[in-house]
Amino acid sequence: MEDVVLGIDLGTSAVKTIAVNQCGEVIGQTSEPLTLIQPKPGYNEQDPESWVNAVKESIKTLIKSEEMKNKHISGASFSGQMHGLVALDKQGEPIRNAILWNDTRTTEQCQLIKNHFGDTLLENPILEGFTLPKLLWLQQNEPKHWQELSVFLLPKDYVRYKMTGDISMEYSDAAGTLLLNPDTKQWDKSVGAELSLGNIYPKLMDSHEYVGNFTEDVKASLELENDVCVFAGGADNACGALGAGVINETQTLCSIGTSGVVLTCMQGKENDLGNNIHYFNHALSNMTYTMGVTLSAGDSLNWLKQTFFDDASFDDIVQQASNSEIGANGLLFTPYLQGERTPHGDAFIRGSFIGLNRSTTKADIARATIEGITYSLYESYQYMSQSHTENKRMISIGGGAKNSFWLQLQADVFNTEVTTLKYEEGPSMGAAMLAAYGLGWFESMEAFVDAFIKYDKTYYPNLENHKTFGQYFNVYQQVYSQTQTLTQQLLNIK
Ligand code: XUL
Repeated sequence: MEDVVLGIDLGTSAVKTIAVNQCGEVIGQTSEPLTLIQPKPGYNEQDPESWVNAVKESIKTLIKSEEMKNKHISGASFSGQMHGLVALDKQGEPIRNAILWNDTRTTEQCQLIKNHFGDTLLENPILEGFTLPKLLWLQQNEPKHWQELSVFLLPKDYVRYKMTGDISMEYSDAAGTLLLNPDTKQWDKSVGAELSLGNIYPKLMDSHEYVGNFTEDVKASLELENDVCVFAGGADNACGALGAGVINETQTLCSIGTSGVVLTCMQGKENDLGNNIHYFNHALSNMTYTMGVTLSAGDSLNWLKQTFFDDASFDDIVQQASNSEIGANGLLFTPYLQGERTPHGDAFIRGSFIGLNRSTTKADIARATIEGITYSLYESYQYMSQSHTENKRMISIGGGAKNSFWLQLQADVFNTEVTTLKYEEGPSMGAAMLAAYGLGWFESMEAFVDAFIKYDKTYYPNLENHKTFGQYFNVYQQVYSQTQTLTQQLLNIK
């Protein structure tokens, strides 16, 4: 029997489970879709039970697959969508649907937190997506549910609890609640006390810590005979970084999925965090990272496809974009389709095309969209301390890493080397690495990265192109302030 570990990634649209052997090879993988509940505009919820069912289903399908014959599952760990509030009662049952990272109902609560603490709290901006505003929303809007609240968890921690019986949270996800001090790695209970939260904090763990085994009930439902050791896991961005080998100061990550992320690792504290850049704990106990998030990155392309490019595949759209020129024939796009996280932290800003003209083509529109998404990530990257971005290799993953045209564009806009991975599994690989690390397969994460991560192509920046992009980027940066009041006025018209 060959030993494997499971890496389970609880995303927003699907659960992905992979099985990885001791050489870092992915033996098998499955995916189960998840549904989003949107009771009102700006509200995004999911039923926590549906996560548990989808995770179990994905493991079951994987176990039954041909590839898993003669495989022994020794360990498992989780990665998950960040920030979502799972409120549990005394019996450990969810009081209501989970309120997700992309839910924007909490502007009033963010303001209240700012009134108490100023514009930042625990080294982070105060944003609708984070967990603390969601707790306050519950306190103010659903008093009956608030009375019942005994402890709060994050999405993947809830699933892990249901599969092991252990209620805990790990640092990389806890950092996204606005209640954890990322430097001391302890709950800052004075924040909760000021806002009358009560004692609702779960215990904290390191990402590779052993939390227990799958319960007998879970084993029976998965038709598993042996015990499986479960390790705490990490936030999806931390696990995405881990799974891309971004574990030290020499690498940054650019991940373009539905949302987009630029992330740079470091040891200890960042001194000059500005403009809504996030500062969180990594899934490695001695590391932290700074991160910028574009809410509608790949999702802007989704929207473009649905709206204008019905029959085209994403590849076709990117191919068409490559037929236009740098600057898309004078057309600029800002990807604020659902507001923006970094650097503007504005749930109400909306996207725009600036510079439409009589000769604008579909190719220009496609190119402007891709450039706008990339500018948005570059803008966040610029707010990260230079000492953390200079001379680094950028690892690009996600939809943005599937096409050489977009990869070269990233290298040129960022003016940095951009490298891709040969086998890209995203956060589920980071989760599998945490399980393997917890089991002691290798003694250090560096050794893991050497064994598990294979790099593919590198794209080198073209300085001339970077300079030309710079001129457009200059204009791009002004679009936010110039359209802010206009989009607000549009939203105010009933
Ligand atoms: C990060 C964030 C998103 C979610 C998506 O702060 O909100 O990347 O984690 O899964």
